[in-house]
Amino acid sequence: MRALLLVATLSLSISAFAQRSEVLLEKGWKFHRGDAPEASAAAYDDSAWQEVCIPHDWAIYGPFSREYDLQNVAVTQNYEKKASLKTGRTGGLPYVGCGWYRCSFEVPSGKRATLVFDGAMSDAHVFVNGKEVCFWPYGYNSFHVDITEAVHPGGNELAVRLENLPNSSRWYPGAGLYRNVHLVLTEALHVGVWGTHVATPEVSADFASVHLETTLEGVDDIGAKVHTCIIGPDGDVVAEADSSLQPGESTAVQDFGIPAPELWSPETPSLYKAVSVIGDGIRETDRYETVFGIRSVEFIPGKGFLLNGESRKFQGVCNHHDLGPLGAAVNEAALRHQLDLLKDMGCDAIRTSHNMPAPELVRLCDEMGFMMMVEPFDEWDVAKCRNGYHRYFEEWAEKDMVNMLRQYRNHPSVVLWSIGNEVPTQCSPEGYKVASFLRDICHREDPTRLVTCGMDQVSCVLSNGFAACIDVPGLNYRTFRYEEAYAALPQGFILGTETGSTVSSRGVYKLPAVKRFSAKDPDQQCSAYELDACSWSNIPDVDFALADDYPWTLGQFVWTGFDYLGEPSPYDTDAWPNHSSMFGIIDLASLPKDRFWLFRSVWNRSSETLHILPHWNWKEGDKVPVMVFTSYDEAELFLNGKSLGIRKKATAAEPTHGGQDEALEGRYRLIWEDIDYEPGELKVVAYRDGAPADSAFVRTAGKPHRISLSYDGHALKSDGKDLAYVTVSILDKKGNLCPLDGSLLKFKVSGAGSYRAAANGDPTSLDIFHEPRMHAFNGKLTVIVQSSEKPGRIRLKVSGCRLRSARLSVNSVL
Ligand code: GAL
Repeated sequence: MRALLLVATLSLSISAFAQRSEVLLEKGWKFHRGDAPEASAAAYDDSAWQEVCIPHDWAIYGPFSREYDLQNVAVTQNYEKKASLKTGRTGGLPYVGCGWYRCSFEVPSGKRATLVFDGAMSDAHVFVNGKEVCFWPYGYNSFHVDITEAVHPGGNELAVRLENLPNSSRWYPGAGLYRNVHLVLTEALHVGVWGTHVATPEVSADFASVHLETTLEGVDDIGAKVHTCIIGPDGDVVAEADSSLQPGESTAVQDFGIPAPELWSPETPSLYKAVSVIGDGIRETDRYETVFGIRSVEFIPGKGFLLNGESRKFQGVCNHHDLGPLGAAVNEAALRHQLDLLKDMGCDAIRTSHNMPAPELVRLCDEMGFMMMVEPFDEWDVAKCRNGYHRYFEEWAEKDMVNMLRQYRNHPSVVLWSIGNEVPTQCSPEGYKVASFLRDICHREDPTRLVTCGMDQVSCVLSNGFAACIDVPGLNYRTFRYEEAYAALPQGFILGTETGSTVSSRGVYKLPAVKRFSAKDPDQQCSAYELDACSWSNIPDVDFALADDYPWTLGQFVWTGFDYLGEPSPYDTDAWPNHSSMFGIIDLASLPKDRFWLFRSVWNRSSETLHILPHWNWKEGDKVPVMVFTSYDEAELFLNGKSLGIRKKATAAEPTHGGQDEALEGRYRLIWEDIDYEPGELKVVAYRDGAPADSAFVRTAGKPHRISLSYDGHALKSDGKDLAYVTVSILDKKGNLCPLDGSLLKFKVSGAGSYRAAANGDPTSLDIFHEPRMHAFNGKLTVIVQSSEKPGRIRLKVSGCRLRSARLSVNSVL
């Protein structure tokens, strides 16, 4: 009878279920930059403070300055032996210092109340009604605190003090309440935060078993009942189970069988949902949903990685958490935009370098189909940054790991845990003990996944036992040592946990087009021929070849998918104004660099790629190499109608040895060396089976004449948060992109939305993201427009001196 009642209740919509509610504390916050110790008091007068919405990054508004967080350090990972002054290392933005946030919230009588912070940067002290209820130092982790004893029915006051120290990061960390804050209200008998653990021990095309453990809080002397329904991807109930807990018990263990399951993969991201209804035998007290997927993950010696029994190599990217011009303030539409671009490139995996992701990213990876390597740390007990995480490691590492593991272990997208990145502890004689300690926490909290670690000190880790104790040995760079590491280690495979670190600036082509390592030029830009790397790194061709030539390589996570703020290598040593990374395949404005098409040509197997570079605005007498990044094997180049010959991709004479200098470009690029420049049209015709299959061209542009605007055309949600990324291009009279233009453009947004930010992808640009004006970089920039909470038309106008202005309208709907 009880079970029947519970099943019947399931048909009610979740919002009709009043026992549990979750309030997003987004609006009505007050913010103060600087310290204000009295602000913890409930009665503090914050009326003069700034009104803000959360997520909020206090530092992204700039302005940029060379003087912020200057760091005098030797970056030993980059082979530096002597300290030198690093400029722009944390983005040249004012993230250091204190900030306070305050807001009021309501609690109905008789409820338990819990606050969940998705991340607070950093050293968060949380006060409720004047009482400190929690301290959490690590700015990237989610944490929660039961505040039931500190609240009263009706209005309550929440205050949060945050502080960032100088020299605490190697990149721009952001500042403030940059991720969401949730108030969770429940009955006494309820599922705790991240209180379920789901696994799929048996997975095949015919059958899957699902094992669910649900941990309850507040089980009293009556005991508790748990009824769970498994809902399939099409919304039908596919299995169910009932459990009773006796007084003193807190975890319900339930097993389900699912015939013909729809398996999760990047190509088929099918999701199931366990809906658990909790009761005390008399009434329902909670309802809790756990989204999960059914998929198998195997790492087999000599054979590599298998998802659902099928071999594949990771085609992954590493990303930092910042969203370029939006800073660290998380925004789901911005993350979705990034993932859409990566999907089109053929990317199937993300490494959350070097810290815990925002929950929105993990949810999107589940839904859109990306595998994830989730990583907590950039340093353990030995410092990389003077004020880095090592200060907290001993006391906090296990707590931080446990939160990360419990929060994300139910997500099908997560296929690997990483325990750290290039930690200096690698070379400590006892380093393997620290690694084993962290690995064992992963295994204890989640016996279903293996553990990796990004290792760069190959000689240390091969000889001191460190690499041998990592389930999936991961090398960062050092491609020329893969064969040696594979032979020396017992595991039987090698993962490229971090690869590439090719550096380029969108649209900047440097002659001659030759491979360069850590080359610096007066313009502080790197070449978009995609041949520039750092002394420790390599161009993409090497990693493609390692994946192609050896069954025991597991694939790679490229450093990085997107440019990020800070770490402006190779212009990081006293080289202001460069202040953003140049490693991205896609620039800070979310505009693809040429490398995007190089990756797409190899990674995207469902749609052809044909891309020609460079631009065609040179001087008479220049000898200009032309490259074509394409999925076709063969193509012919024409300049003003005259054939410059056919090029064909080379086949490998022998497997690569991963040398930084190995000439592998012929396998992945079509190259016409030193073409005598003449203005006009450069056209490439791709051939399949000897017949023309596709063509692309680039034409010499005349004087800048007009502005053109484009975006993917989707209607925005009128939720006050949705975004349209509008590409702004400067064209000549005939519609050709003016590839060298840097005009100052102005933006005006009216109607049902507002101007959010702009970016041009120039790592040396000091234009402020939030001012409605910016210089184009090589003829382009991106304007981000945000919906309001009212549906309607959002109108954007972009204008510039001596340019015909352009207008675009974006629809925003309920
Ligand atoms: C690696 C490091 C990354 C980034 C990269 C730049 O050594 O793990 O965080 O610094 O180098 O090439």
